[in-house]
Amino acid sequence: MDLRHYLQFKDLDRSDIEYVFERARIIKDRFKRYEAYHPLADRTLVMIFEKASTRTRLSFEAGMHQLGGAAIYLNTRDSQLGRGEPVEDAAQVISRMCDIVMIRTYEQEIIERFAAHSRVPVINGLTNEYHPCQILADIFTYIEQRGCIQGRTVSWVGDSNNMCHTWLQAAEVLDFNVHVSTPPGYEVEPERAGLYGTDHFESFADPLEACRGADLVTTDVWTSMGFEAENEERKKAFADWCVDAEMMAVADPKAVFMHCLPAHRGEEVTAEVIDGPQSVVWDEAENRLHVQKALMEFLLLGRVAG
Ligand code: CP
Ligand code: NVA
Repeated sequence: MDLRHYLQFKDLDRSDIEYVFERARIIKDRFKRYEAYHPLADRTLVMIFEKASTRTRLSFEAGMHQLGGAAIYLNTRDSQLGRGEPVEDAAQVISRMCDIVMIRTYEQEIIERFAAHSRVPVINGLTNEYHPCQILADIFTYIEQRGCIQGRTVSWVGDSNNMCHTWLQAAEVLDFNVHVSTPPGYEVEPERAGLYGTDHFESFADPLEACRGADLVTTDVWTSMGFEAENEERKKAFADWCVDAEMMAVADPKAVFMHCLPAHRGEEVTAEVIDGPQSVVWDEAENRLHVQKALMEFLLLGRVAG
């Protein structure tokens, strides 16, 4: 089987994604029925974290366990990675001892260099540029709740960050539209999402207009990990980019609200919206578990029967 990584959303094509979603549905259903499924027995996942995490660590660690394998957690503080061992050397060693690697780090370039020297599949668990596992789970959740996403409109309100870039890539692969509204000075640049020419993206100065008629409204923290020094400045710039009831009211009546979490109520979203009837954030978080199990199965075993 060819070695495949998942470093950006577009590393999977539409057919791969449809397959992974079908497997995620089956794996989730079996898990809910307490049916054991251990296709990754004796396989080991290494999780390398250079930034904090709750959901990503839990979902990968529990997921690997549920598939019959083991997961090992490494962080920069306690491993040689924090003491200057070259990424290329770490990749050579780690990939001789383990079967699959998940990395959460800063620049995308770091994970690309790791993957270039790895003998085993590498998964992006978040970089400054992308968060592909999260968007995979988000789209799986949308389909579960509302059906096909093709032709739908996703409204992104807030920072043009890793989540926003990944939504733009996903729109290209799966043929839906993204309406983005960011404060002045924080505009999205599609080139930073690896897109050179896209007709799936539109920019709006007014966040209310970005939400008009949307099928899915979503946002994220104003300050992502690694950008903490800009926090105070961002709080001022983003004050009007808070998803509230007025924005949800102009969206499609069947629109859902998503947030990758952790959330800051009263900043990027009101408590009324995130805790309200249109919010699917807990299903979205849970689906990280099932979608990533399907992703690991796909990267390690390819297309399986049954
Ligand atoms: N959404 C997400 O990736 O959460 P964590 O930072 O807790 O992993
Ligand atoms: N954009 C956020 C997502 C956290 C899951 C960050 O990078 O910190």
